[in-house]
Amino acid sequence: MKMTPYSVKSLLATTPLLQEVVVNGWVKTFRSNRFIALNDGSTLENIQCVVDFEQFDEALLKQIATGAALRVSGTLVESQGKGQKVEILVKEIFVHGTADPETYPIQPKKHSLEFLREKAHLRVRTNTFAAVMRVRSALAFAIHKYFREQGFYYMHAPIITGSDAEGAGEMFRVTTLDARNPPLTDTGEVNYREDFFGKETNLTVSGQLEAEAFAMGLGKVYTFGPTFRAENSNTSRHLAEFWMIEPEMAFYDLDANMDLAEDFIKYVLTYVLEHCGTDLEFLEQRLLQEEKSRPQAERSAMPLREKLQFIVDNQFKRVTYTEAIDILKNSKPNKKKKFQYPIEEWGTDLQSEHERYLVEKHFQCPVILFDYPAKIKAFYMRLNEDQKTVRAMDILFPGIGEIVGGSQREERLDVLRQKIAVLGIDEKELWWYLELRKFGTAVHSGFGLGFERLVLFATGMGNIRDVIPFPRTPQNAEF
Ligand code: 4AD
Ligand code: MG
Repeated sequence: MKMTPYSVKSLLATTPLLQEVVVNGWVKTFRSNRFIALNDGSTLENIQCVVDFEQFDEALLKQIATGAALRVSGTLVESQGKGQKVEILVKEIFVHGTADPETYPIQPKKHSLEFLREKAHLRVRTNTFAAVMRVRSALAFAIHKYFREQGFYYMHAPIITGSDAEGAGEMFRVTTLDARNPPLTDTGEVNYREDFFGKETNLTVSGQLEAEAFAMGLGKVYTFGPTFRAENSNTSRHLAEFWMIEPEMAFYDLDANMDLAEDFIKYVLTYVLEHCGTDLEFLEQRLLQEEKSRPQAERSAMPLREKLQFIVDNQFKRVTYTEAIDILKNSKPNKKKKFQYPIEEWGTDLQSEHERYLVEKHFQCPVILFDYPAKIKAFYMRLNEDQKTVRAMDILFPGIGEIVGGSQREERLDVLRQKIAVLGIDEKELWWYLELRKFGTAVHSGFGLGFERLVLFATGMGNIRDVIPFPRTPQNAEF
């Protein structure tokens, strides 16, 4: 009878002893021609498979090297050795595929994250990346669970779009025109009427505008999809392709929006604390090891899980932009000219050094900054009575900076049209967005959470390239 294979996770957790079992996986290590540590990705831990080498062909044993894929059958028994509760006394081994130790790059030793980025197709076989990717998967699940429990509907915003939601002009063009010989208009410009969609189109930077349309019919919706930005920022916090979660709620004002964002983040972090214990513990240890080589001042004050619990247990501090500017202006680093971008006057945009000062030094907890100057924020944000600020909010996290950007939306047709005119945006491009304000308009709000920044925070990793399977950054779209 053919037996159904077990996962390593179920073998370690729930399978009764003295059963005949089958398991598939990859060899982590093979010691003393006797002990195979087998891993199948279901959990961080390996199952130890004990081989009586006298019973096997030498030729077969030679094929068992780090990275090889095996199917192992045998009896599950209590382990004789230390380090694991159970092990398999091996009766049969089938080699799915070998891995030549001379050329297989993922050997059982410490590899640098930079080296592993060059091997992105293999790096998920390391403990670190497998742990990060399992946490990423759990976070994605928790996000859907949260919104479903809160009565939201999941909607899919289009990837190809004709509008620039953020108005920042950092978009990737989508075209089928021949770049070497595009059709031209009478005035010598590229004639997009002859392009696939009959107009200029790009990859979306945000699903917000379409989510707004849906919120005005379904009430509470969210998108969770890939977004694209052609900003040339080669930082450890930016990707050209990243995933964004964007809830949009009819009849929510900015306060309700901030309440939701805070509750949402706490919920998903609680979820991974409860469901990813083994992986978080591993990542925490990894971080502690790594930090030993750093100067004291750069080490984080709390171990990873404690840091996540701290976020869950404490209220985010809510501060207006104006208050934040006062704090920054009078801060030590500003007076001592330590900021790369000194804070001189109200109205300047905050850089990540300022955000991190507020969160890490001044408040020492997550901060929600709100009521930003209209000039530095997108056109769709609701104008305040003062005519100078808008109902924007950014959530700032320790070690990350901005993790959420959101706002109450401008629901008044006349005000929105004025803002569009001032910014020089063509009304024709946004005709349908403006109609949402003509027919049954209402107060509404939403925000965008950068998924990779959340994964970065939850795993304690230092570079956003290491928390997405195959990162896209300037000059890099390998794999
Ligand atoms: O602040 P942003 O630009 O806001 C929006 O796009 C709004 N339309 C969201 C909304 O209200 N529905 O982006 C939202 C978040 C940022 O706070 C950040 O976490 C993340 O997206 N983000 C990036 N993450 C990785 N790489 C990049 N290049 C990112 N740009 C923004
Ligand atoms: Mg933003």
